[in-house]
Amino acid sequence: MDDATLAIGEETIELPVVEDSEGGRAVDISALRSTTGLITYDKGYGSTAETESAVTYLNGEEGILRYRGYSIEDLAEKSTFLEVSYLLYYGTLPNAAQLEDYVETIRRHTLVREDMRHLFDVFPADAHPMQMLASATSAMATYYPDALDPLDPVSADISARRLIAKLPTIAAWAFKHSVSQPFIYPRNELEYTANFLNMMFSLPVEQTTPSPAVSKALDVLFILHADHSQNLSSSAVRLVGSGQANVFSSVSAGIHALSGPLHGGANQQVVEMLDAMLADGGNSDSWITRAKDKDDPFRLMGFGHRVYKNFDPRARLIKKYARDVLDEIGTDDPVLELAMELEQHALADEYFVERKLYPNVDFYSGIIYRAMGFPAEMFTVLFAIGRLPGWLAQWREMITDPNSRIQRPRQVYTGATERPYIAMDQR
Ligand code: CMC
Repeated sequence: MDDATLAIGEETIELPVVEDSEGGRAVDISALRSTTGLITYDKGYGSTAETESAVTYLNGEEGILRYRGYSIEDLAEKSTFLEVSYLLYYGTLPNAAQLEDYVETIRRHTLVREDMRHLFDVFPADAHPMQMLASATSAMATYYPDALDPLDPVSADISARRLIAKLPTIAAWAFKHSVSQPFIYPRNELEYTANFLNMMFSLPVEQTTPSPAVSKALDVLFILHADHSQNLSSSAVRLVGSGQANVFSSVSAGIHALSGPLHGGANQQVVEMLDAMLADGGNSDSWITRAKDKDDPFRLMGFGHRVYKNFDPRARLIKKYARDVLDEIGTDDPVLELAMELEQHALADEYFVERKLYPNVDFYSGIIYRAMGFPAEMFTVLFAIGRLPGWLAQWREMITDPNSRIQRPRQVYTGATERPYIAMDQR
């Protein structure tokens, strides 16, 4: 591949161009500063790769998403969330014995340490479950001091499995705390998602049996959220992990990063927006007008994506599942009809067409979660459970890379130049 030539005034320098396995090209500027004293400026990393990665391929122009080479369409139809977790973390699909061993260790680690129950007592009743999830994930590190070394592969492995196994328990307990109900312990004879649904919705006095169709749909939703290359939360996990913090701290940072409304928090906001539209008479056009108004900070939640400039393949699959799940559960949520109408109107509108703004993963997921019985505050928590295998896979890739360096962006300084200190009586 030919080098790129950069001309700075009279001076020119050659920069290597590297090609990725799908034909994408990148100019390698890692020696730029040492050879020229220059740095690059790229707000929000729109044109910058921080790392090489073999985990997930994402083509935003064509709407392609593959984990380790397998399309999400295939995985959603044929695989399970735990198998996908294995695939993401270890890089290959497990054989029967490997999968059995993996599922068995996850199954046997679902219980969280009993002392951790008290952690929830200190949170106010209206604490957001994402905040509790992040805090409890961080606190988990205090219980496993012998397995915290991120450079020890055995510790990393057991910590990753502990996280996959325990996050649903912590998530369900965060919910139970918020509704002042007793915690429900995991039941290891249940499958992963059924176990989570049981901890969420059963009571000591009344056990609910999760419907296989609902468990399966949730499993598929988790698969569709499992990784998304160098997104904000995965980058946060890699960033914190690059300083060799333990994996619980790194994942906890990822949960915090996910909580924002421009990232994972959007799924809660979509349903809140649709509810507000319904209360407003169900007229989507006036809300579209607001979203287009530059003087109004309102944005159509669940629309737009930094990378997808065609359609979000996850949204397409989720839309299909939303219909199936609502039929199965027998809920006739008017919000689904409104969402479809809003999507149609927005996609016919010049503003959205010009900017290539399509529904993203969050647009339909909240509607399914609500039909399953989850309150809106839990939607982003569900995203976190789904995204965990991706965070772990990205973290493992970073920590085992012999060329990994602590992440330390440069800046373009715009502050004051040196000035003398001003005494208090002269200010
Ligand atoms: N409603 C109205 N206008 C929008 C929207 C929207 N949802 N999204 C982008 N735009 C406009 C934006 O105002 C800008 O217009 P102009 O060029 O005239 O200034 C243009 O489209 C480009 O937007 P941007 O903000 O530069 O794009 P970005 O890549 O920085 O932001 C985004 C991507 C997802 C944060 C943004 O589209 C957004 O805020 N969407 C709503 C929140 C949302 O649904 N987030 C979930 C993302 S998917 C789940 C995940 O991966 O986390």
